[in-house]
Amino acid sequence: MRFFLDTANVEDIRKANDLGVICGVTTNPSLIAKEGLNFADVIKEITTIVDGPISGEVKPTTLDFEGMMKEAREIAAIHPNMVVKIPMTAEGLKACHQCHKEGIKTNVTLIFSANQALLAARAGATYVSPFIGRLDDISEDGLELIRTIADMFSINNIDAQIICASVRNPIHVMQCALAGADIATVPYKVIETMIHHPLTDQGIAKFQADYKKVFG
Ligand code: E4P
Repeated sequence: MRFFLDTANVEDIRKANDLGVICGVTTNPSLIAKEGLNFADVIKEITTIVDGPISGEVKPTTLDFEGMMKEAREIAAIHPNMVVKIPMTAEGLKACHQCHKEGIKTNVTLIFSANQALLAARAGATYVSPFIGRLDDISEDGLELIRTIADMFSINNIDAQIICASVRNPIHVMQCALAGADIATVPYKVIETMIHHPLTDQGIAKFQADYKKVFG
């Protein structure tokens, strides 16, 4: 399983990219709004930091096929690494299919069932994004959805890649990797938490103390 960073914060993207652990970025309208910056400007800057797939979403107010296609073409024109994020709706599926025909990569977002993932894949999605944290929030098993989609795609020889989205903690990450996800898109704070272990910190302190006792 690979990692994307799930943020529009360029400082966090730089930090994660410097660690060498991420190979792409996902954004959404809430994350862009949180930064309070112009969509195209932020996305352009991200493409200069990470050399991998960058998901930029059509506007949340754009719900029709024609509108989504206009924005999809604009987003795709920003940089060859751009992936157009499209919501899992009937109009979104049509747009996903048209993007596929035009060679535009897509990430179908807001997926909460295996059947939605199957439809998105059949419409030509490059990536499907099941949201595990938001399912957990309503007492449904997000991880079970990842396992089901992974099995379904494997049995049916489907190439669309599974991005585990709405990842909230390191346990989610480990479980996504074991469930057969291709990618987990994670906030920077989850990566930071994954780095640390109290025994690592204690081990460094003890090595320092033992070393200093003898060598000063
Ligand atoms: C990623 O593509 C999603 O936009 C994101 O992971 C949603 O996460 P959230 O449920 O924590 O907002």
